[in-house]
Amino acid sequence: MDYKVADLTLADFGRKEIELAEHEMPGLMAMRARYGADQPLQGARIAGSLHMTIQTAVLIETLTALGADVRWATCNIFSTQDHAAAAVVVGPKSAGGTVDNPQGTPVFAWKGETLAEYWDEAEKVFQFKDADGNAIGPNMILDDGGDITLLVHKGTEFEKAGAVPGQDSTDNEEYKEVLRVLARSLDNDPTYWTNIGAGIKGVTEETTTGVLRLYDRFKEGSLLFPAINVNDSVTKSKFDNKYGCRHSLIDGINRGTDVMIAGKTAVICGYGDVGKGSAESLRGQGARVIVTEIDPICALQAAMDGYEVKRLESVVEFADIFITTTGNFDIIRVEHFEKMKHQAIVGNIGHFDNEIDMAGLAKIPGIVKDEIKPQVHQWIFPASDGGQGKKIIVLSEGRLLNLGNATGHPSFVMSNSFTNQVLAQIEIFTKLDEYPIGVYVLPKHLDEEVARLHLDAIGVELTELNQAQADYLGVPVEGPYKSEHYRY
Ligand code: NAI
Repeated sequence: MDYKVADLTLADFGRKEIELAEHEMPGLMAMRARYGADQPLQGARIAGSLHMTIQTAVLIETLTALGADVRWATCNIFSTQDHAAAAVVVGPKSAGGTVDNPQGTPVFAWKGETLAEYWDEAEKVFQFKDADGNAIGPNMILDDGGDITLLVHKGTEFEKAGAVPGQDSTDNEEYKEVLRVLARSLDNDPTYWTNIGAGIKGVTEETTTGVLRLYDRFKEGSLLFPAINVNDSVTKSKFDNKYGCRHSLIDGINRGTDVMIAGKTAVICGYGDVGKGSAESLRGQGARVIVTEIDPICALQAAMDGYEVKRLESVVEFADIFITTTGNFDIIRVEHFEKMKHQAIVGNIGHFDNEIDMAGLAKIPGIVKDEIKPQVHQWIFPASDGGQGKKIIVLSEGRLLNLGNATGHPSFVMSNSFTNQVLAQIEIFTKLDEYPIGVYVLPKHLDEEVARLHLDAIGVELTELNQAQADYLGVPVEGPYKSEHYRY
């Protein structure tokens, strides 16, 4: 088995944490119990790219328990938990793998990859082998943020054009790596990505940002295969994005800085699902929270939830903590950094690192980047007398700090997200003819089912509709209970 992780001897520790997580992931364990015998993913070759955490380990082992063959990379250079990666490679105890003879799933991920390593490892999830050891592509993608979906689409597009643009065609350091990887594959095989794309039945996408990319492709007519938007299952975005961030945002700030949050002024840029959880996370610690928004509905929500809503420019000089949650780019720029006070803390919890202009920060004349510890840096501004001026603390180099500085969302909420992922993989893999090219959300009865699977574990008593009440509301006794346009 090929794999690339930091240290296989961490597998024991990883396995213990996986076992703790399994207890907290009733949705995924119910998938194993319900579908394990039928093996609905038998024959599926899933190329996966999603933060390689303990919770993801339980997802991977659920997919393999349902019959799938899986290869996995992370979707962020800082988010891998090395003990989780090691345990997945060694495999579950039942598979009898050891550090010297791993029997698990190939993983290509470690915490602190370079961008070049990240894209090299991303490419490896496509390199399956058939029973005779011949190279074969995946037939399913499970993605978070759309990076491996992008490789297939860009690769196919460049192969059609007969060339990959040179790396000097872009200023974006990350995109330069994409072009490098695609140029290499085009040199080796001019129809490599075209063939991979043709073999893929569909993709299931985890997050807001990746979903946005899929709808864009569908609109422009370039989407190569059907997609299920897992993010917009209610049991994903209204739980993981909100309650997950409520848990993991302050975890990241605390582990990164250990600063007292109570009494500080914190700015949350964006009041969507992630912003709502993030604002509550900081308010829960006693911070005074200010929100910025562009959408009048979300701005009004924030105001009526009791937050001040201001422009960043109005508060940048006195706030202590700045967190971006927009999924947009260029939110915190050099002009803002220049006005922040000494030891302001800046971080991002949105998917990509371009919410904060890190490249612009690095170009300020005389600025010095000083590492306090991995994923925590102070940026020392020059003083007017040539000495050291104010210092700004940046978490996870502008990448999502809840996974870079802490361990991301806890298992229970990820069980909701990942149960949707498993159902979405089964949907496309087993019912492809029901999904012509397009972007779909899972049907509401499955969304309700995901929630239902998580009630017992936390002692919820669900009230049952009687027939007369169901008739009065015009819904079936067994659900679904809400119309498609209900917003929760
Ligand atoms: P969303 O679309 O619900 O919320 C984003 C909000 O930002 C919107 O209300 C939008 O109006 C606002 N916004 C856009 N541009 C703005 C600007 N210039 N200034 C102020 N506000 C602005 O999206 P959601 O689900 O909250 O996701 C946000 C990001 O977080 C995405 O990139 C998503 O992929 C990522 N995400 C990260 C997670 C994590 O664990 N770190 C978990 C889930 C999602």
